[in-house]
Amino acid sequence: MKIVETIAEVREQVKQWKKEGLTVALVPTMGYLHEGHRSLMERARKENDRVVVSVFVNPTQFGPNEDLASYPRDLEHDAALCDSVGVDLIFHPAPEEMYPKGFCSFVDMDVLTKELCGLSRPVHFRGVCTVVSKLFHIVTPDRAYFGEKDAQQLAVIKRMVLDLNLDIEIVGCPIVREADGLAKSSRNTYLSPEERKAALVLSRSIFAGKKLAESGETDAHKLVQAMTDIISAEPLARIDYVKVVDLLTMQQIDKLDRPFLAAIAVYIGKTRLIDNFMVQAGGAGA
Ligand code: PAF
Repeated sequence: MKIVETIAEVREQVKQWKKEGLTVALVPTMGYLHEGHRSLMERARKENDRVVVSVFVNPTQFGPNEDLASYPRDLEHDAALCDSVGVDLIFHPAPEEMYPKGFCSFVDMDVLTKELCGLSRPVHFRGVCTVVSKLFHIVTPDRAYFGEKDAQQLAVIKRMVLDLNLDIEIVGCPIVREADGLAKSSRNTYLSPEERKAALVLSRSIFAGKKLAESGETDAHKLVQAMTDIISAEPLARIDYVKVVDLLTMQQIDKLDRPFLAAIAVYIGKTRLIDNFMVQAGGAGA
């Protein structure tokens, strides 16, 4: 496994692979990799000849009062995990490599990014779309892998690929959870032991919401209320949003009569955590 820091080195390697007729996967990450990332890499490993993982804490997707400076970083640990899965190349650029002096071109999106996390994180998806487009242009992958935990991000990337005619297959992979239900996230490391216990309220509300949907409830507002009641009972939790939206457009719906996403964002102390469940046509999925 190689670790490279420049765009030129990635291009050179990928050019070589493509000359040999090999398929290339990209798993974009911000590092501090966990079992959720591992599941993306393993799927990418199975489905492609070569796997590239990008490890880059992307400054443009953090707002001015967010956790860019404190976001956890550990390249040595990340490299060991990538190596154990059989990743071929880690791309670990410095911020100046991705955003050289004078950088002023961004990829932005309307509609889907104006709901859910887009409301409390106004610059977030512009940063995500910009960095992911750049990575797509640098790596030119056949397939790219994203976690369903960031369900809105996944919908946004799928829409961007469609709108901008990018010839890349976007693969969504299921949420990976701790044994007690908490969705794996690099930000879980911010939680104190007391907050870690309180954070279980997210998965509890997701599981209850899913059960209600599976039992035949068709009123989206009742689903939101049931999930909200569970979270509100936890003193350390502060709700950012609890919403049910159309799975493709991310717009709020009243009736559960189409594929939908039930998504929550909750502060536990200072840490903002997200979780969700989706119902594709024909039944609830994780
Ligand atoms: O999901 C993430 O870790 C990031 O948003 C991504 C897709 C790597 C872009 O920086």
